[in-house]
Amino acid sequence: MTLRRSQIVGCGSYLPARVVTNDEMAKIVDTSDEWITARTGIKRRHIAADGEKTSDLAMHASTDALMDAGVAVGELDMIVLATATPDETFPATATLVQAQLGMTRGFAFDVQAVCSGFVYAMAVADNFLRVGQADTALVIGAETFSRILDWSDRSTCVLFGDGAGAVVLKSAEGNGTAEDRGILSTRLHADGRKHDMLYVDGGPSSTQTTGHLRMFGKEVFRHAVTNLSSVVDETLEDVGLTASELDWMVPHQANRRILEATAKKLKLSPERVIVTIQDHANTSAASVPLALDQATSDGRIKRGDLVLMEAMGGGFTWGACLARW
Ligand code: COA
Repeated sequence: MTLRRSQIVGCGSYLPARVVTNDEMAKIVDTSDEWITARTGIKRRHIAADGEKTSDLAMHASTDALMDAGVAVGELDMIVLATATPDETFPATATLVQAQLGMTRGFAFDVQAVCSGFVYAMAVADNFLRVGQADTALVIGAETFSRILDWSDRSTCVLFGDGAGAVVLKSAEGNGTAEDRGILSTRLHADGRKHDMLYVDGGPSSTQTTGHLRMFGKEVFRHAVTNLSSVVDETLEDVGLTASELDWMVPHQANRRILEATAKKLKLSPERVIVTIQDHANTSAASVPLALDQATSDGRIKRGDLVLMEAMGGGFTWGACLARW
């Protein structure tokens, strides 16, 4: 049986130049390198310069991904950009990137699922490609979380960073088996009853302000491992595979302890997990494509490898995307 598949043909990423270490954070709030490292695995994060916007980060990552893919802007049918920190309330940051790239056809829109945003965006783009409504897609995760942090709240401001990552998807024919190259399965979930666990206390229709990130970290932690390991299992079951067959897990980078506990629950060896949290902190929708770009650039992820991406974020939202590289 022939089946349209979305092949991942290129990756790119961008991190702002400014690096802020844990010791520098300790000058801003009452914290320490020891506390942050032990509780989260984070050592440093990148912070966007004054005036550097989410669309700027997204542009750098996108041109990098298009170059890696050898795909011209004119070939793109669609852009899906995952962000919770858009340049403006509207229009979508994706349309700003579209204009800056010089893409004058096709369509572009944002997806908002906070830290799960990239996985949601991959699922959306994959479905457009599968039904034949598009052949080539640019999928971006880009965030400037530094703009929505409460820099006086030590329990949240030490956890996040800015960055962007992007991939190019191209439709190709597969034979419908788990040996096909491309996205094999995506699964998404949301539970809006958990809104108060992780949210921003502002917005155009509520306070007419941008607001700041608020989080009950312990509650998020408690749900993360269960939700993530179950959605990973669902994605694998869709194509009759098990976690033992995974070459790589590329998780959302929220907390090293969550990554390790999820891998343990899946009986996956820690060497199979791509970890960037020490250098990037939590970059929300950008974390998975940033980690993907790192692991493809350094040669860990190779053609034919079975790669599982997963994420959980505010909402709660969570999801997974299984792909053969
Ligand atoms: N530096 C030093 N101490 C800090 C601190 C910081 N940056 N932040 C919090 N603390 C203190 C707290 O005030 C508390 O002190 P107390 O016991 O005197 O009240 C103590 O450390 C323990 O805080 P707690 O929140 O219970 O710590 P924790 O072990 O749950 O770790 C997180 C906190 C945020 C690291 C952890 O809950 C977490 O990672 N949760 C998931 C968050 C996440 O993944 N979010 C994104 C999802 S997309």
